[in-house]
Amino acid sequence: MVSSIHDPRALSDAWLRAIDEAAPVLLGPHDRTGPALADEVARLSELYTRDRGALRAQSAALAARLRFFLPRDLPKIEGPLAELAWAGALPAGPRWKVLDLGAGLGTTTLGIATFAKRVGIEGLDVLAIERDPRSLDVMKHLAAKCGRGVLADETAPVTLETRELDLEPIDVRALRTPGGYSMVVLGLALNELWAAHPDPLERRSTLLARASEILADDGVVIVIEPALRESSRALQQLRDRIDASPRAPYVFAPCTRSGPCPMLEGERDWCHEELPLALPDALKTVARGAGLRWEGLSYAYLTLRKTPGRVADAWRVVGGPIESKGRTEWHACGEPGLVRIARLTRNRREGDALEGAQRGSMIAIEGEPAPGETLRTDRVRIDRRR
Ligand SMILES: C[S@@+](CC[C@H](N)C(=O)[O-])C[C@H]1O[C@@H](n2cnc3c(N)ncnc32)[C@H](O)[C@@H]1O
Repeated sequence: MVSSIHDPRALSDAWLRAIDEAAPVLLGPHDRTGPALADEVARLSELYTRDRGALRAQSAALAARLRFFLPRDLPKIEGPLAELAWAGALPAGPRWKVLDLGAGLGTTTLGIATFAKRVGIEGLDVLAIERDPRSLDVMKHLAAKCGRGVLADETAPVTLETRELDLEPIDVRALRTPGGYSMVVLGLALNELWAAHPDPLERRSTLLARASEILADDGVVIVIEPALRESSRALQQLRDRIDASPRAPYVFAPCTRSGPCPMLEGERDWCHEELPLALPDALKTVARGAGLRWEGLSYAYLTLRKTPGRVADAWRVVGGPIESKGRTEWHACGEPGLVRIARLTRNRREGDALEGAQRGSMIAIEGEPAPGETLRTDRVRIDRRR
């Protein structure tokens, strides 16, 4: 596989410098570094994973959000964007109009600005919706740095309008823009909406359907969610509901198949991606101090478009590689359902299509495997698509 300008990149030193410049200005006495930062990160991480009902308290942990979670999560949006680029389905330029819902400190918008610079987009025009005014202040400060100073070569410039709004009672179609949005994004925010509602699925699917109505013809809705079992499965259920509807929006990715998600059949399975990006050294130290992982960036995602069509006619690797004595196993999802692929170590070859294949990779499998089948690589031909 040849790496291209479209492939996701680890966070640059320039971004870390920009955050180091901004943090003391924005946080004053609430800024934290070293062990105090690691402690705040550990506390907030606990809240994200175990007590999502108490998430309103997150606005207090601004140092952890700005100095750790923002730079850690910023490259996540590059996964779905890189995939759109690979499929030739990125929205057209020269500028992108972005609606960022539940924008927080602006992590997702800033990730888009970073990717946009690499693919030659001239700039972003962003409308950010967020209920927490302190978060929007941070976003304004960081967005104003995009395309200049230490970020001159790193990000496209961003013009930003913000609105302090609760997303639950509003109809997002009221936020429409002439020509439509290139992207409507919800970065790690959808799971927080209607969390206490009796039918969050219905509310969230209505929100996504309305969001797709205000897209440009080539626009995309991208939802990123934490790779936790609960939030990933909720996103898969949402995907099933959207996929079953005959109207827009249409599921573009990650699924390469139609019909119900086979990963929802067993309670213990969930579909998520992993970008092979390690954290920069400075963040690794904080992650270690907070007891968090620092290799690989995981998230669940859903990319929707206004017109039917999937990312590829292929199989998606959704599990593995799992190494056991004498063999490696992967799980792949495609039109017939889920299959296992087993490669005996003695059949491993130089330039093997499965070498380096991991969650998210796409492959072509010769023949018509049946759901649940275990395919041995000495019996089928496998080609790597991405
Ligand atoms: C985990 S943060 C994610 C922020 C950012 N989008 C990112 O990519 O990291 C979730 C954000 O959604 C916001 N949020 C949650 N419920 C909301 C609501 N009902 N209306 C507006 N914003 C909301 C929270 O205030 C928080 O800033």
